[in-house]
Amino acid sequence: MDLELRHKTVIVTGGSRGIGAGICAAFAQEGANVVLNYRSQEEQARAFAHSLEQRWGVTVLPVQADVTCPQEVERLFRQAQDAFGPPDVLVNNAVGGVTFKPFQELTYEEWKAAQAGIVDHVFFMSQHFLRECIQASKPGRIIHILSKSSFLSSSVDNLTYVANKGALAALTRGMAKEFIRHGVFVNGIIPGYVNTRAHQEDSPRTAQIRQMLPLGELAQPQEIGNVAVILASPLFRQMIGAIVDCTGGTML
Ligand SMILES: NC(=O)c1ccc[n+]([C@@H]2O[C@H](COP(=O)([O-])OP(=O)(O)OC[C@H]3O[C@@H](n4cnc5c(N)ncnc54)[C@H](OP(=O)(O)O)[C@@H]3O)[C@@H](O)[C@H]2O)c1
Repeated sequence: MDLELRHKTVIVTGGSRGIGAGICAAFAQEGANVVLNYRSQEEQARAFAHSLEQRWGVTVLPVQADVTCPQEVERLFRQAQDAFGPPDVLVNNAVGGVTFKPFQELTYEEWKAAQAGIVDHVFFMSQHFLRECIQASKPGRIIHILSKSSFLSSSVDNLTYVANKGALAALTRGMAKEFIRHGVFVNGIIPGYVNTRAHQEDSPRTAQIRQMLPLGELAQPQEIGNVAVILASPLFRQMIGAIVDCTGGTML
């Protein structure tokens, strides 16, 4: 099936590694041009962008920006606009600022850092994106990368993550309802246990996790990307505020 993403432009935050990299790869495979946002690993981002260009014949623009900073978000959109014109798809994937601690020991700075690293950048990025769609009178797609923690208190000492991923789920539904009048579709994905820095294939903890996974294996990052391209496709207009369970059956 042609998902009609060829020559479209997608912006992916935190795109140089982990799930973000899998999302960039899936869009490049569909023929979309990619604005690959990264924060700190320039060499890795540039090498990855180059490898996608070589493999899929698309243009991949690595853009360094801390998306928790409004001025840097503005610059990111300017660079994207200069390279490709107004973008078609935004994937809010980046995550940062999380502190694992008992609730009573958290400082207010730690609490605010997680809000910045999980929710605030979604506000900055999505507001820019929506304004560009309205200004250019063109439709758009926004995809949020959520977590099981958006709906379940999946672990203890993890409330900075749980609270803000929960907020992101509420934001997904609320934005979907509000933005659709401008032709901007907002949906979300819940990854399960994905082969990333958090769950490395060969760690002892992963060996334990694998035993309780219905498929007996971690998801690969591009499996999440493969769902993202469906949510970005103009063929699927009935998905508005949908939150897709990609947890490999671990929320059943
Ligand atoms: N891994 C899983 O199994 C899993 C499960 C459920 C949900 N998720 C969700 O999936 C998404 C990706 O997770 P992941 O495990 O792939 O994450 P990751 O490996 O920790 O990568 C996060 C990426 O976000 C970037 N980033 C963080 N803060 C940023 C900022 N302020 N500005 C720009 N980039 C920033 C990081 O850049 P730096 O390298 O510079 O820090 C990194 O590239 C997250 O939203 C996460 O909550 C993951």
